Amino acid sequence: MPSPLDEPAPGEPAPLGESSQPLDISACHTASIDPPWSGVRRGALRAGERVRLTDPKNHRHSVLLEAGKTFFTHKGSIDHDAMIGQPDGQVVTSTGGVDYLVLRPLLADHVVSMPRGAAVVYPKDAAQILVMADIFPGAHVVEAGVGSGALTCSLLRAVGTGGVVSSYERREDFAAIARDNVDGFFGGSHPAWRLTLGDLAVDLAERERDVDRVILDMLAPWDCVDGVATALAPGGLVCAYVATTTQLSRFVETVRAHGGFTEPESWESLVRGWHVEGLAVRPSHRMNGHTGFLVTARRLAPGTSAPRRSRRPAPGAYGHDYTGPRPAGPAVNE
Ligand SMILES: C[S@@+](CC[C@H](N)C(=O)[O-])C[C@H]1O[C@@H](n2cnc3c(N)ncnc32)[C@H](O)[C@@H]1O
Repeated sequence: MPSPLDEPAPGEPAPLGESSQPLDISACHTASIDPPWSGVRRGALRAGERVRLTDPKNHRHSVLLEAGKTFFTHKGSIDHDAMIGQPDGQVVTSTGGVDYLVLRPLLADHVVSMPRGAAVVYPKDAAQILVMADIFPGAHVVEAGVGSGALTCSLLRAVGTGGVVSSYERREDFAAIARDNVDGFFGGSHPAWRLTLGDLAVDLAERERDVDRVILDMLAPWDCVDGVATALAPGGLVCAYVATTTQLSRFVETVRAHGGFTEPESWESLVRGWHVEGLAVRPSHRMNGHTGFLVTARRLAPGTSAPRRSRRPAPGAYGHDYTGPRPAGPAVNE
């Protein structure tokens, strides 16, 4: 029980986690109000929104609800009007007697089922990027390429309307697909999103300054390292997502050779589901064995060079077979 002596003096802020006034969350948690620009809808299902129907065999169908329309399956049909106006999480029965669970898709459902131009960043990697690249509300984030717009949705949600996600895509057809997917998820043009048709390796240094985070998901992220160094604010972070070990090596060595970044950190994440049923508790038989590797590095202050590594490279790391970029310093040329 806090004593009266613990009360903050007039004008002083209350200690973290305490407040003299009870927090009124009713305004933002009214069941019928959609949180703005979250992609989340609340209350009864409405015409014009997408729902996911799941049958007893776990087959999923994405359906855009429209008044007067019918969804046909090989086990009978379901009128959209039987779902519109009903709560999320209902069960509807087709004319063939099959029950379907009706749920609004989550962001992770949306990105794996939406139309694709290029391969998307899967939710397990998007989750890693959001935390390990430290994407925060109000951040100025640059990303390329936008591809199908999957990662863009997560970035926009994390920066919120007070931030900026500046996305670059060099293919017009992919940019159009991404625009549809991102606008479709948020229900309109997100106020924090800028989509530029162009090559990031060319545009970054010319168009972006004081950037907090740069996220690279492209074939040749090493082409952007000089531009990233120009665009990032001191202490800012670059994160690359690459599919192969050769890309991983070339990106890391290019960042290291640049000298204006901290030592890059590289990892991959493996996610394995579990089957949990009574006494049968075991790992799932199937998992995604490989999606991609992640690398992060922080931008140093202008004119500052990365401290020389005190640890010598592994024997042969930069031997005569190695032809990639080399960090400066005698230790690595031996
Ligand atoms: C794997 S996809 C990106 C997927 C995206 N992150 C997503 O989650 O949907 C790679 C994209 O990068 C684009 N790209 C490659 N190099 C680029 C560059 N230098 N500038 C802009 N876009 C580039 C490609 O056209 C492609 O659409």
